[in-house]
Amino acid sequence: MIDFILIVTLCFSLLALLWGVGLLWGLVQTRVPCISTHRQRADEMIRCANIQPQHNICDLGCGTGNILFQAHKEHPKAYFTGYELSPVVCWWARLKSILLRQPIQFLRQDFFKANLSDQNIVFCYLFPKIMQRIETEIWPTLKPGAKVISHGFPFPHTKPSHTIMLGKIGIFVYER
Ligand SMILES: C[S@@+](CC[C@H](N)C(=O)[O-])C[C@H]1O[C@@H](n2cnc3c(N)ncnc32)[C@H](O)[C@@H]1O
Repeated sequence: MIDFILIVTLCFSLLALLWGVGLLWGLVQTRVPCISTHRQRADEMIRCANIQPQHNICDLGCGTGNILFQAHKEHPKAYFTGYELSPVVCWWARLKSILLRQPIQFLRQDFFKANLSDQNIVFCYLFPKIMQRIETEIWPTLKPGAKVISHGFPFPHTKPSHTIMLGKIGIFVYER
């Protein structure tokens, strides 16, 4: 019995270590920690998106995919993609997608190297420097009518179509 408890403890410790190293590895690569958007804010972002069944929706730096899972539950016919560079976080999101039977595509890819010109809705929760790069490199490539919905950090130069303040934190909506 003690052997069994030891083996289980060892397995959990190994998994926790793998998770920790993976998070650290992701942080070194992207310089953005994997922090999930709070449920209430995710709901607000999804409401602002006004998702339609034919829409392509992506989350740039999706973490464990919380926003996408929530949005997919409400709009199962739309097509969802998450981009995430951190390997363990991306594998976890893929595993969740299988276990929850929610067909969401999770790509372990730098979103700056992706073609996002077919996306209707782009979610993000990143840092100001990255928002600046998104504004110059991704925003001009999006199609007319596409929306960028950013949690916490606005584009430095483009004015949002509207802003929702939840406490001190803003949700910034941009429409092309
Ligand atoms: C603050 S978390 C946000 C998670 C999720 N979007 C949410 O709101 O719940 C930001 C994530 O972006 C990822 N990330 C940052 N830069 C990236 C890049 N260029 N390509 C892919 N993922 C990136 C980080 O690894 C991190 O997990």
